[in-house]
Amino acid sequence: MGVMSSSQIRKMQESGRIVRLVLRELRQAAVPGVTTAELDDLALRLIRSEGGIPSFLGYRGYPASVCISVNCVVVHGIPGNAPLACGDLVSLDVGVVKNGYHGDAADSFFVGGSPAHPDSSRLVDVTYEALQLGIDAARPGNRTGDIGAVVQQRVEQAGYSVVRDLVGHGIGKRLHEEPQVPNYGRRGTGILLKQGMALAIEPMVNQGGWRVRMLEDGWTIVTEDGSLSAHAEQTVVVTDGEPLVLTA
Ligand code: MF3
Ligand code: CO
Repeated sequence: MGVMSSSQIRKMQESGRIVRLVLRELRQAAVPGVTTAELDDLALRLIRSEGGIPSFLGYRGYPASVCISVNCVVVHGIPGNAPLACGDLVSLDVGVVKNGYHGDAADSFFVGGSPAHPDSSRLVDVTYEALQLGIDAARPGNRTGDIGAVVQQRVEQAGYSVVRDLVGHGIGKRLHEEPQVPNYGRRGTGILLKQGMALAIEPMVNQGGWRVRMLEDGWTIVTEDGSLSAHAEQTVVVTDGEPLVLTA
């Protein structure tokens, strides 16, 4: 379980800076007609020009630098030759390692700014609200279940559901460390949070039911009911004051 010293946190801040830079540039570039493979190329160039390495490329055989998950794809969408269309819901997930430490964050948005169907417009906002509540709960003395409980409550009160099969995680020298950070749960349960712990908090929110399935490629996770899904993630350090967002 990663408990970070202040010098380790500074290194993670550098990885986090690159993650945020890449997310910003990719969002700008995600216009109708652009393919997700083109966005992946751009991400790789940006990460390398900043002296980083894409955390995901080659991770358990993952074949690309970033994950790009469109519409009913929840997470781990593999970039390819399909062009984006106006109104598509795009989730970008970027991980960078530099100086031995990882940063990991994700953003979701609608191509062109608004959804193909107006009844989806709240989905992205609720996902970010849930992430923020989860970040606010990342304090010493709280437990991972306190994060999950506030995320789940926000999402379900909006009429959406949280994915159960995939969770957030500790992060540091490795992309995935202990503890697991579920997006559901009960207050006062789970792993005790301590100052210096680095966590990737990442709610995955479905417009329909919470169930998901994996496609034949062994990576792509889609909603079982075909409903839209949004994903937002930040890498956060637990401090004695406000939680420190390294990918802000
Ligand atoms: N942010 C995702 C995660 O923490 C992305 C992992 S993609 C993978 O699971 F290819 F690296 F697995
Ligand atoms: Co992650």
